[in-house]
Amino acid sequence: MAWQVSVRGRTITSSAIREILKVTERPDVISFAGGLPAPQTFPLDRIRDACTDVLARAGTRALQYAPTEGLAPLREWIAERHSAPGCAIDPEQVLITTGSQQALDLIGKVLVEAGSVVLVETPTYLGALQALSLSLPRFVSVPCDDDGPLPEGLLAARAHDARFLYLIPNFQNPTGRYIPEARRVAILQAAAEADLTLVEDDPYSALAYDGSSAATFLSLGGDRVIRLGSFSKLLAPGLRIGYCIAPVDIRRRLVLAKQAADLHTPSFTQAVAFEVVKDGFLDRHVPTIRSLYAAQCAAMLAALERHFPPGAVWNRPRGGMFVWVTLPPSIDGAVLLERAIEEKVAFVPGAPFYAEQPQANTMRLSFVTVPPPLIDEGIARLGRLIRGMMD
Ligand SMILES: Cc1ncc(COP(=O)(O)O)c(C=O)c1O
Repeated sequence: MAWQVSVRGRTITSSAIREILKVTERPDVISFAGGLPAPQTFPLDRIRDACTDVLARAGTRALQYAPTEGLAPLREWIAERHSAPGCAIDPEQVLITTGSQQALDLIGKVLVEAGSVVLVETPTYLGALQALSLSLPRFVSVPCDDDGPLPEGLLAARAHDARFLYLIPNFQNPTGRYIPEARRVAILQAAAEADLTLVEDDPYSALAYDGSSAATFLSLGGDRVIRLGSFSKLLAPGLRIGYCIAPVDIRRRLVLAKQAADLHTPSFTQAVAFEVVKDGFLDRHVPTIRSLYAAQCAAMLAALERHFPPGAVWNRPRGGMFVWVTLPPSIDGAVLLERAIEEKVAFVPGAPFYAEQPQANTMRLSFVTVPPPLIDEGIARLGRLIRGMMD
Protein backbone atom coordinates (compact mmCIF):
# COMPACT_ATOMS: atom_id res chain seq x y z
CA MET A 1 0.00 0.00 0.00
CA ALA A 2 1.58 3.34 -1.06
CA TRP A 3 0.76 5.87 1.67
CA GLN A 4 1.61 9.45 0.73
CA VAL A 5 3.30 11.39 3.51
CA SER A 6 2.65 15.15 3.75
CA VAL A 7 5.35 17.81 3.73
CA ARG A 8 4.68 18.17 7.46
CA GLY A 9 5.00 14.44 8.01
CA ARG A 10 8.29 14.43 6.14
CA THR A 11 9.51 17.44 8.15
CA ILE A 12 9.22 15.72 11.53
CA THR A 13 12.62 14.54 12.63
CA SER A 14 13.27 12.45 15.67
CA SER A 15 14.47 14.42 18.69
CA ALA A 16 18.17 13.66 19.16
CA ILE A 17 17.56 13.58 22.88
CA ARG A 18 14.81 10.98 22.79
CA GLU A 19 17.02 8.76 20.61
CA ILE A 20 19.90 9.08 23.08
CA LEU A 21 17.57 8.40 26.01
CA LYS A 22 16.82 4.97 24.55
CA VAL A 23 20.49 4.03 25.04
CA THR A 24 20.80 5.70 28.41
CA GLU A 25 17.89 3.85 29.97
CA ARG A 26 20.36 1.00 30.52
CA PRO A 27 21.10 1.03 34.26
CA ASP A 28 24.87 0.68 33.82
CA VAL A 29 25.13 3.99 31.88
CA ILE A 30 25.93 7.21 33.77
CA SER A 31 23.60 9.54 31.94
CA PHE A 32 23.93 13.31 31.85
CA ALA A 33 21.68 13.24 28.77
CA GLY A 34 18.13 13.42 30.08
CA GLY A 35 16.18 16.57 30.75
CA LEU A 36 14.24 14.58 33.31
CA PRO A 37 13.73 15.98 36.81
CA ALA A 38 15.01 13.86 39.70
CA PRO A 39 12.24 11.37 40.61
CA GLN A 40 12.92 11.66 44.36
CA THR A 41 11.54 15.22 44.10
CA PHE A 42 8.11 13.98 43.00
CA PRO A 43 5.81 14.41 46.02
CA LEU A 44 4.43 10.89 45.83
CA ASP A 45 2.49 10.82 49.12
CA ARG A 46 0.99 14.21 48.49
CA ILE A 47 -0.11 13.19 44.98
CA ARG A 48 -1.53 9.89 46.29
CA ASP A 49 -3.57 11.76 48.92
CA ALA A 50 -4.73 14.29 46.32
CA CYS A 51 -5.96 11.49 44.03
CA THR A 52 -7.98 10.02 46.90
CA ASP A 53 -9.38 13.41 47.96
CA VAL A 54 -10.36 14.40 44.42
CA LEU A 55 -12.15 11.11 43.78
CA ALA A 56 -13.88 11.19 47.17
CA ARG A 57 -15.09 14.75 46.70
CA ALA A 58 -15.87 14.98 42.97
CA GLY A 59 -16.63 11.29 42.27
CA THR A 60 -17.35 10.60 38.61
CA ARG A 61 -17.24 14.34 37.82
CA ALA A 62 -13.45 14.15 38.19
CA LEU A 63 -13.39 11.63 35.35
CA GLN A 64 -15.83 13.35 32.98
CA TYR A 65 -15.03 15.41 29.86
CA ALA A 66 -14.24 18.99 30.82
CA PRO A 67 -13.90 22.46 29.21
CA THR A 68 -10.97 22.96 26.83
CA GLU A 69 -9.73 26.05 28.71
CA GLY A 70 -8.90 23.98 31.78
CA LEU A 71 -10.08 23.72 35.38
CA ALA A 72 -11.29 27.14 36.56
CA PRO A 73 -9.73 27.08 40.06
CA LEU A 74 -6.37 26.03 38.59
CA ARG A 75 -6.53 28.86 36.04
CA GLU A 76 -7.40 31.31 38.84
CA TRP A 77 -4.44 30.05 40.88
CA ILE A 78 -2.10 30.52 37.91
CA ALA A 79 -3.50 33.98 37.13
CA GLU A 80 -2.97 35.07 40.71
CA ARG A 81 0.62 33.73 40.85
CA HIS A 82 1.49 35.66 37.69
CA SER A 83 -0.17 38.94 38.55
CA ALA A 84 2.31 41.66 39.45
CA PRO A 85 1.95 45.36 40.25
CA GLY A 86 0.74 46.98 37.03
CA CYS A 87 0.13 43.58 35.41
CA ALA A 88 -3.09 41.91 36.53
CA ILE A 89 -3.65 38.56 34.83
CA ASP A 90 -7.24 37.52 34.17
CA PRO A 91 -8.00 33.76 34.37
CA GLU A 92 -9.56 34.28 30.91
CA GLN A 93 -5.99 34.72 29.63
CA VAL A 94 -4.93 31.29 30.92
CA LEU A 95 -5.15 28.04 28.97
CA ILE A 96 -4.15 24.75 30.60
CA THR A 97 -2.16 22.64 28.15
CA THR A 98 -0.93 19.07 28.06
CA GLY A 99 2.56 20.05 29.15
CA SER A 100 3.98 23.36 27.99
CA GLN A 101 5.17 21.36 24.99
CA GLN A 102 1.59 21.38 23.69
CA ALA A 103 1.45 25.17 24.01
CA LEU A 104 4.40 25.35 21.60
CA ASP A 105 2.51 23.21 19.09
CA LEU A 106 -0.67 25.31 19.43
CA ILE A 107 1.26 28.57 19.09
CA GLY A 108 2.82 27.24 15.89
CA LYS A 109 -0.61 26.36 14.51
CA VAL A 110 -2.21 29.69 15.43
CA LEU A 111 0.62 32.16 14.76
CA VAL A 112 2.96 30.65 12.17
CA GLU A 113 2.49 30.45 8.42
CA ALA A 114 4.60 28.17 6.20
CA GLY A 115 7.71 30.19 5.38
CA SER A 116 7.20 32.88 8.03
CA VAL A 117 10.16 33.74 10.24
CA VAL A 118 10.40 32.70 13.89
CA LEU A 119 13.32 34.16 15.85
CA VAL A 120 15.05 31.87 18.35
CA GLU A 121 18.00 32.10 20.71
CA THR A 122 21.40 30.69 19.78
CA PRO A 123 21.20 27.85 20.82
CA THR A 124 17.62 27.03 21.89
CA TYR A 125 15.36 24.27 23.23
CA LEU A 126 15.31 21.41 20.77
CA GLY A 127 11.72 20.49 21.64
CA ALA A 128 10.57 23.96 20.57
CA LEU A 129 12.35 23.64 17.23
CA GLN A 130 10.68 20.27 16.81
CA ALA A 131 7.16 21.45 17.78
CA LEU A 132 7.26 24.68 15.77
CA SER A 133 8.87 23.06 12.73
CA LEU A 134 5.55 21.32 12.01
CA SER A 135 4.19 24.74 11.06
CA LEU A 136 7.01 24.97 8.47
CA PRO A 137 8.56 28.27 9.61
CA ARG A 138 11.97 29.64 8.73
CA PHE A 139 13.98 29.83 11.95
CA VAL A 140 16.37 32.74 12.30
CA SER A 141 18.85 32.63 15.20
CA VAL A 142 19.34 35.83 17.17
CA PRO A 143 22.96 36.42 18.23
CA CYS A 144 23.37 35.84 21.98
CA ASP A 145 26.01 36.36 24.63
CA ASP A 146 26.15 34.98 28.18
CA ASP A 147 23.20 37.23 29.13
CA GLY A 148 20.92 36.01 26.34
CA PRO A 149 19.74 37.60 23.08
CA LEU A 150 21.48 40.82 22.02
CA PRO A 151 18.87 43.59 21.69
CA GLU A 152 20.50 44.92 18.51
CA GLY A 153 19.99 41.47 16.97
CA LEU A 154 16.25 41.99 17.25
CA LEU A 155 16.21 45.04 15.05
CA ALA A 156 16.82 42.71 12.10
CA ALA A 157 13.39 41.30 12.95
CA ARG A 158 11.73 44.25 11.28
CA ALA A 159 13.27 43.23 7.95
CA HIS A 160 12.20 39.62 8.47
CA ASP A 161 8.65 40.47 9.52
CA ALA A 162 9.14 37.79 12.21
CA ARG A 163 6.09 36.25 13.87
CA PHE A 164 7.71 36.28 17.31
CA LEU A 165 10.90 35.77 19.28
CA TYR A 166 10.92 32.53 21.29
CA LEU A 167 13.07 32.72 24.41
CA ILE A 168 13.72 30.90 27.69
CA PRO A 169 14.68 33.57 30.22
CA ASN A 170 15.67 31.48 33.24
CA PHE A 171 18.32 28.74 33.34
CA GLN A 172 17.77 28.06 29.70
CA ASN A 173 17.57 24.61 28.20
CA PRO A 174 20.24 23.83 26.96
CA THR A 175 22.77 26.44 28.21
CA GLY A 176 21.63 27.13 31.79
CA ARG A 177 21.81 30.82 30.79
CA TYR A 178 19.89 33.48 32.72
CA ILE A 179 18.77 36.79 31.21
CA PRO A 180 19.42 39.60 33.76
CA GLU A 181 16.62 42.09 34.32
CA ALA A 182 18.38 44.99 32.57
CA ARG A 183 18.76 42.82 29.45
CA ARG A 184 15.06 41.88 29.64
CA VAL A 185 14.14 45.56 29.61
CA ALA A 186 16.53 46.23 26.69
CA ILE A 187 15.13 43.26 24.73
CA LEU A 188 11.58 44.54 25.24
CA GLN A 189 12.60 48.04 24.13
CA ALA A 190 14.14 46.62 20.95
CA ALA A 191 11.06 44.42 20.45
CA ALA A 192 8.81 47.49 20.70
CA GLU A 193 10.95 49.31 18.13
CA ALA A 194 10.84 46.31 15.80
CA ASP A 195 7.11 45.73 16.50
CA LEU A 196 7.96 42.20 17.55
CA THR A 197 6.03 39.90 19.89
CA LEU A 198 7.63 37.44 22.32
CA VAL A 199 6.95 33.89 23.50
CA GLU A 200 8.48 33.47 26.96
CA ASP A 201 8.91 29.79 27.87
CA ASP A 202 9.73 29.52 31.55
CA PRO A 203 9.64 26.07 33.17
CA TYR A 204 12.72 26.67 35.33
CA SER A 205 12.32 30.07 37.05
CA ALA A 206 11.33 28.58 40.43
CA LEU A 207 14.58 26.57 40.41
CA ALA A 208 16.86 29.56 41.15
CA TYR A 209 19.20 28.08 43.76
CA ASP A 210 19.09 31.25 45.87
CA GLY A 211 15.31 31.48 45.57
CA SER A 212 15.50 34.84 43.80
CA SER A 213 13.28 35.79 40.88
CA ALA A 214 13.53 38.41 38.16
CA ALA A 215 10.57 40.24 36.63
CA THR A 216 8.98 38.10 33.92
CA PHE A 217 8.82 39.29 30.32
CA LEU A 218 5.04 39.05 30.75
CA SER A 219 5.03 41.49 33.67
CA LEU A 220 7.34 43.90 31.80
CA GLY A 221 5.88 43.53 28.33
CA GLY A 222 2.14 42.89 28.88
CA ASP A 223 0.23 42.23 25.66
CA ARG A 224 3.43 41.86 23.65
CA VAL A 225 4.18 38.58 25.46
CA ILE A 226 2.76 35.05 25.57
CA ARG A 227 4.09 33.20 28.60
CA LEU A 228 4.37 29.42 29.01
CA GLY A 229 4.74 27.63 32.32
CA SER A 230 4.77 24.07 33.58
CA PHE A 231 4.31 21.89 36.64
CA SER A 232 6.69 19.30 35.19
CA LYS A 233 9.80 20.44 37.03
CA LEU A 234 8.00 21.37 40.28
CA LEU A 235 5.59 18.44 40.79
CA ALA A 236 5.96 15.66 38.21
CA PRO A 237 6.15 15.67 34.40
CA GLY A 238 3.89 12.63 34.13
CA LEU A 239 0.93 14.78 35.20
CA ARG A 240 1.41 16.61 31.88
CA ILE A 241 0.17 19.95 33.22
CA GLY A 242 1.46 23.09 31.54
CA TYR A 243 -0.18 26.37 30.70
CA CYS A 244 0.03 29.46 28.59
CA ILE A 245 -0.99 33.02 29.37
CA ALA A 246 -1.88 35.08 26.30
CA PRO A 247 -3.86 38.16 25.30
CA VAL A 248 -7.55 37.18 25.35
CA ASP A 249 -8.08 37.18 21.55
CA ILE A 250 -5.01 34.98 20.93
CA ARG A 251 -5.94 32.73 23.82
CA ARG A 252 -9.38 32.20 22.23
CA ARG A 253 -7.73 30.94 19.06
CA LEU A 254 -5.36 28.74 21.04
CA VAL A 255 -8.39 27.23 22.81
CA LEU A 256 -9.94 26.35 19.43
CA ALA A 257 -6.69 24.79 18.22
CA LYS A 258 -6.50 22.77 21.43
CA GLN A 259 -10.10 21.67 21.09
CA ALA A 260 -9.19 20.17 17.72
CA ALA A 261 -6.03 18.59 19.12
CA ASP A 262 -7.20 16.84 22.31
CA LEU A 263 -10.47 18.41 23.57
CA HIS A 264 -8.82 19.14 26.91
CA THR A 265 -5.93 18.24 29.19
CA PRO A 266 -6.96 15.32 31.45
CA SER A 267 -9.44 16.72 33.95
CA PHE A 268 -8.34 14.27 36.62
CA THR A 269 -4.66 15.30 36.62
CA GLN A 270 -5.66 18.97 36.57
CA ALA A 271 -7.82 18.42 39.66
CA VAL A 272 -5.01 16.48 41.34
CA ALA A 273 -2.44 19.18 40.57
CA PHE A 274 -4.73 21.87 41.94
CA GLU A 275 -5.43 19.82 45.07
CA VAL A 276 -1.66 19.51 45.62
CA VAL A 277 -0.77 23.19 45.12
CA LYS A 278 -3.81 25.05 46.41
CA ASP A 279 -2.61 25.51 50.02
CA GLY A 280 0.88 26.83 49.38
CA PHE A 281 2.52 23.39 49.05
CA LEU A 282 4.97 24.57 46.36
CA ASP A 283 6.41 27.22 48.68
CA ARG A 284 7.47 24.40 51.02
CA HIS A 285 8.32 21.80 48.39
CA VAL A 286 10.30 23.74 45.77
CA PRO A 287 13.13 24.79 48.18
CA THR A 288 13.91 21.08 48.65
CA ILE A 289 14.31 20.65 44.88
CA ARG A 290 16.50 23.75 44.72
CA SER A 291 18.89 22.54 47.40
CA LEU A 292 19.20 19.08 45.83
CA TYR A 293 19.94 20.54 42.39
CA ALA A 294 22.30 23.19 43.78
CA ALA A 295 24.38 20.47 45.48
CA GLN A 296 24.47 18.33 42.33
CA CYS A 297 25.36 21.34 40.19
CA ALA A 298 28.24 22.14 42.56
CA ALA A 299 29.40 18.51 42.30
CA MET A 300 29.38 18.71 38.52
CA LEU A 301 31.26 22.03 38.42
CA ALA A 302 33.89 20.63 40.78
CA ALA A 303 34.21 17.47 38.65
CA LEU A 304 34.59 19.53 35.46
CA GLU A 305 37.31 21.59 37.14
CA ARG A 306 39.08 18.38 38.19
CA HIS A 307 38.81 16.32 35.01
CA PHE A 308 38.27 18.46 31.90
CA PRO A 309 41.32 19.69 29.98
CA PRO A 310 42.30 23.33 29.53
CA GLY A 311 40.53 24.65 26.45
CA ALA A 312 37.11 23.40 27.58
CA VAL A 313 34.90 26.14 29.04
CA TRP A 314 31.54 26.00 30.81
CA ASN A 315 29.07 28.25 32.56
CA ARG A 316 28.21 28.28 36.27
CA PRO A 317 24.40 28.13 36.33
CA ARG A 318 22.54 29.84 39.18
CA GLY A 319 19.55 27.55 38.82
CA GLY A 320 17.89 24.85 36.74
CA MET A 321 19.21 21.54 35.50
CA PHE A 322 21.92 22.07 32.88
CA VAL A 323 25.58 22.95 32.36
CA TRP A 324 26.73 23.85 28.85
CA VAL A 325 30.28 23.03 27.83
CA THR A 326 32.21 24.39 24.86
CA LEU A 327 35.00 21.94 24.00
CA PRO A 328 38.23 22.68 22.16
CA PRO A 329 37.33 23.41 18.50
CA SER A 330 38.70 20.09 17.21
CA ILE A 331 36.28 17.99 19.31
CA ASP A 332 32.94 17.11 17.77
CA GLY A 333 30.32 16.42 20.46
CA ALA A 334 28.61 13.75 18.34
CA VAL A 335 31.88 11.81 17.86
CA LEU A 336 32.64 12.16 21.56
CA LEU A 337 29.19 10.75 22.38
CA GLU A 338 29.79 7.61 20.28
CA ARG A 339 32.97 6.93 22.25
CA ALA A 340 31.37 7.92 25.55
CA ILE A 341 28.58 5.39 25.13
CA GLU A 342 31.23 2.66 24.79
CA GLU A 343 32.55 3.91 28.16
CA LYS A 344 28.99 3.88 29.53
CA VAL A 345 28.53 7.64 29.86
CA ALA A 346 25.99 9.75 27.95
CA PHE A 347 25.26 13.43 27.34
CA VAL A 348 23.58 15.40 24.58
CA PRO A 349 25.83 16.88 21.88
CA GLY A 350 25.13 20.59 21.41
CA ALA A 351 24.67 20.78 17.62
CA PRO A 352 20.93 19.83 17.47
CA PHE A 353 20.08 22.81 19.70
CA TYR A 354 21.10 25.28 16.98
CA ALA A 355 18.50 26.36 14.44
CA GLU A 356 21.30 27.58 12.15
CA GLN A 357 25.06 27.08 11.97
CA PRO A 358 25.45 24.37 14.61
CA GLN A 359 28.49 24.61 16.83
CA ALA A 360 29.65 20.98 16.93
CA ASN A 361 32.15 21.38 19.79
CA THR A 362 29.44 21.83 22.44
CA MET A 363 27.59 19.56 24.87
CA ARG A 364 24.71 19.74 27.35
CA LEU A 365 25.16 18.05 30.70
CA SER A 366 22.25 17.46 33.06
CA PHE A 367 23.31 16.85 36.64
CA VAL A 368 19.99 16.36 38.39
CA THR A 369 19.44 12.59 38.16
CA VAL A 370 23.02 11.45 38.89
CA PRO A 371 24.32 11.21 42.49
CA PRO A 372 27.56 13.19 43.15
CA PRO A 373 30.00 10.20 43.29
CA LEU A 374 28.74 9.06 39.88
CA ILE A 375 28.87 12.63 38.55
CA ASP A 376 32.57 12.64 39.35
CA GLU A 377 33.11 9.21 37.77
CA GLY A 378 31.16 10.12 34.61
CA ILE A 379 32.95 13.44 34.14
CA ALA A 380 36.32 11.71 34.74
CA ARG A 381 35.54 9.24 31.93
CA LEU A 382 34.54 12.09 29.60
CA GLY A 383 37.66 14.06 30.53
CA ARG A 384 39.87 11.06 29.63
CA LEU A 385 38.12 10.64 26.29
CA ILE A 386 38.44 14.34 25.41
CA ARG A 387 42.15 14.37 26.28
CA GLY A 388 42.58 11.25 24.13
CA MET A 389 40.89 12.96 21.19
CA MET A 390 43.14 16.02 21.59
CA ASP A 391 46.38 14.01 21.38
C1 LIG B 1 12.39 25.04 27.76
C2 LIG B 1 11.38 23.94 27.83
N1 LIG B 1 10.14 24.18 27.38
C3 LIG B 1 9.19 23.24 27.44
C4 LIG B 1 9.46 21.98 27.94
C5 LIG B 1 8.35 20.96 27.94
O1 LIG B 1 7.92 20.71 29.25
P1 LIG B 1 6.51 20.09 29.61
O2 LIG B 1 5.79 19.77 28.33
O3 LIG B 1 6.80 18.88 30.41
O4 LIG B 1 5.81 21.16 30.39
C6 LIG B 1 10.74 21.67 28.40
C7 LIG B 1 11.05 20.34 28.90
O5 LIG B 1 12.13 19.96 29.24
C8 LIG B 1 11.73 22.69 28.35
O6 LIG B 1 12.98 22.48 28.76
